[in-house]
Amino acid sequence: MITQKYKSILDKLEPYLFCNSRNTQEFNLKPLGIEIKQELIFDCMKTESAQFFDLITKMDNLTFGDQGMGMDRWVLYDCSAMPGAIFGLAIRVNELESQLREKMNIPSSYQGYVPLSMYIAIPTAQPKHWFGHNLSSLNGQLENKIPGLGLLTKAMGILTMKIEKQYGATQWNNPALCIHAKLAPLELLTSYTPIHTHKYSLTYLAHYSEQQILDVLNNREVSRPTQSFSLSGDDKEQIQKIQKEIEIGDKFWICEPPTIANELSTYSIYKEDN
Ligand SMILES: CC(C)(COP(=O)(O)OP(=O)(O)OC[C@H]1O[C@@H](n2cnc3c(N)ncnc32)[C@H](O)[C@@H]1OP(=O)(O)O)[C@@H](O)C(=O)NCCC(=O)NCCS
Repeated sequence: MITQKYKSILDKLEPYLFCNSRNTQEFNLKPLGIEIKQELIFDCMKTESAQFFDLITKMDNLTFGDQGMGMDRWVLYDCSAMPGAIFGLAIRVNELESQLREKMNIPSSYQGYVPLSMYIAIPTAQPKHWFGHNLSSLNGQLENKIPGLGLLTKAMGILTMKIEKQYGATQWNNPALCIHAKLAPLELLTSYTPIHTHKYSLTYLAHYSEQQILDVLNNREVSRPTQSFSLSGDDKEQIQKIQKEIEIGDKFWICEPPTIANELSTYSIYKEDN
């Protein structure tokens, strides 16, 4: 059903869900046919969930802390777990690399699972439209990398939360755009976002279907617009020009995952003719 690359991740890791338990009845608790174990469905309103939540905050700090976007606990509670969900993949603590166990400061008495990735989405006022609030994986901290961890996490999170349309905001040159654009072409809603902490953030809208997610996880091509021009993630002038054009009604898409060289991304952009 999915390629070996992703199957082998699921041989080692288990899906988990951290949310308001009243939301779970709306979710698919068997994404890709894999049941999320009861012990890995955490109710954010239960005291017993606090220990796993601590590990989520540690992961967030290791992945977003250096970008100045690590979340306060209340943000994870008020703006993630309560309204939407935190979905991710976790490893049994005795299978975790000891260096990462130390970095995460996990007590020797801890017996449970440790989250290695998370995708957070929050529903918006528009039916079936969500906001992809966070995507992270600890691959950057692992000595033995798990290729595909970030992508599989987002794919399974979308299936779990039954997301059909997803807004997202991220920074130009962020490698996560490889994942976002692999799962679907991205319509640019902003290319320059002075309201955001990082003004060279973009806002996108992506459409998903279960079939399309399966196609990506099977290395099958998904339908994409054809490139009109290429854009460097460092071309601030062009990025601001695109924003002006978006604001007068022009439409742009990131067609496919960017190519990355020396941490600089080049994007393939489609502009719709009016
Ligand atoms: C960005 C992040 C989620 C990627 O996670 P990951 O587990 O390394 O990603 P994957 O292994 O699933 O990679 C998916 C694809 O992206 C590519 N990719 C990921 N990181 C890359 C990088 N730094 N440079 C080049 N390509 C990269 C992979 O090569 C892979 O492509 P492929 O499917 O063609 O092989 C992770 O590095 C992270 O948590 N970063 C910090 C937090 C962050 O900025 N999140 C993004 C918010 S929008």
